[in-house]
This record gives sequence, structure tokens and C-alpha cells, in this order.
Amino acid sequence: MRAEHPETGKGLDDGEVLDQVVTFLVAGSETTASTLAFVFHLLGAHPEVEKRVHAEIDEVLEGRSPTFEDLPSLEYTRGVITESLRLYPPSWMAMRVTAAETELGGRTVPAGTMILYSAQALHHNPELFPDPERFDPERWLGDRAKEVERGALLPFGAGSHKCIGDVLALTETALIVATIASRWRLRPVPGTTLRPEPKATLEPGPLPMVCEPR
Ligand code: HEM
Repeated sequence: MRAEHPETGKGLDDGEVLDQVVTFLVAGSETTASTLAFVFHLLGAHPEVEKRVHAEIDEVLEGRSPTFEDLPSLEYTRGVITESLRLYPPSWMAMRVTAAETELGGRTVPAGTMILYSAQALHHNPELFPDPERFDPERWLGDRAKEVERGALLPFGAGSHKCIGDVLALTETALIVATIASRWRLRPVPGTTLRPEPKATLEPGPLPMVCEPR
């Protein structure tokens, strides 16, 4: 709110501040909420992964609530979140306009062309991610993480319009997952099928789950 334009020295007026707040709310709520729904659905469907997440959380937290300082130690849990963002990127489609004539996929694209690209399609490309439909959080651990090609994982976009809230989103998601999973096991209601809905964001659809105390 104290920001000033570097050349004019002018600050933001009330309307501009309101626009910024609305943008953060719109861009930051549903994306994070969907990510959490996908993560808990994946954990419920993969008991062996859930067991490892619970073991890591129990070892790191020893019964207390998680804090920002715990995040580096919750490596496997963060791998689960990254793998969920790969399989189900809430922001599944984005747009760019070419600033200059360029080559793309062997075609010449004139300046000013609107291009749609899909993180969802990219993340399921077997040339970038072997066995792409497999939920495999270990892709994001140790040396295997280094094998992933730069630009192959784009849940937050790239370039100057990359998500401004990416670190906040990953931090709050990891803290929420650790807080919930330290006390609860979420079980999908039998017969529930995950059918992601590609709307403005990729939504998980109705995913009823039963909370069981651990
Ligand atoms: C898991 C959660 C989130 C995902 C998957 C996500 C994804 C994205 C993506 C892909 C873009 C770039 C779109 C493009 O390339 O054109 C974007 C932009 C943006 N995001 Fe996020 N986002 C998340 C959370 C948040 C949060 C928590 C905030 C703020 C509190 C936020 C604020 C924004 C804003 C303001 C932009 C526009 C940036 C610009 O155009 O310069 N996002 N987000």
C-alpha cells in the first residue's frame, strides 16, 4: 500500500488497492483449495504414500503443530504436493501473446499471436515424465528431481507473469497438509470417482471424504 511509481512518485488509489486485494483473493483461494482437495484424494487412494507422509510428519513434528521452519524437513510431504500439482495443475491453461516473430514447434508464429498453452498437457507428456499417469512423489526427491527438464513443470506458469503467490501457496499447502494429516486420515467415500473439471481452473468436482482420527 506504500508502493510508489518509480517515475511519477504516485501511490495506489483506493480503487487500485481494492483491485489488488480482489486479484489475490480470486487467484489465491480456489487454486490452493483445489490443490488441497487433490492432495487428500491422492493420499486416500494411495495408502502406502499416506503411510510415509504420516511417518514423516510424526517424526518431524513429534506431536506439535507445524511451523515454517519445519518445511525443509517435510521433504516427502512436499514431494506429494508437487506431484499432485503435476497431475492436477489447478491453473491448467494459460495464455501468452508473442512479442516478436518466433519459431514454435517448427512453425513460424508472427508477432502479436495469441498462444494458449496447457500445463495439464505438458505434465502428462511421457517424453517429459515417464509413466505420466502414475502418482509417484519420488520423482521430486534427490537425484530424480534433477532429471526433470527445466520448464517441464509449470503449475505456477513461467516468465514475468509467473504466479506471484507461488511460495505462499506452497508454504500454506504444506502447513495445512501437515496440520490435518498429523491428526486425521481422510478416506474417500466408497464409490467416489475423481473427475477433474477443466473450468476457469481445474476443479476436483465433488470429492466427499470421511475424517477418521489417527
Ligand atoms: C496452488 C496454488 C496456486 C496455483 C496453482 C497458481 C497458479 C498460477 C498461475 C499458473 C499463474 C500464471 C498464469 C500465467 O502464466 O499467465 C498465476 C498467476 C497469479 N497468481 Fe497464482 N497460483 C496459486 C496461488 C496463488 C496465491 C496464493 C496467490 C496470492 C495470494 C496468487 C496470486 C496470483 C496472481 C496475482 C497472479 C497474476 C500474476 C501476473 O499476471 O503478473 N496465486 N497463478
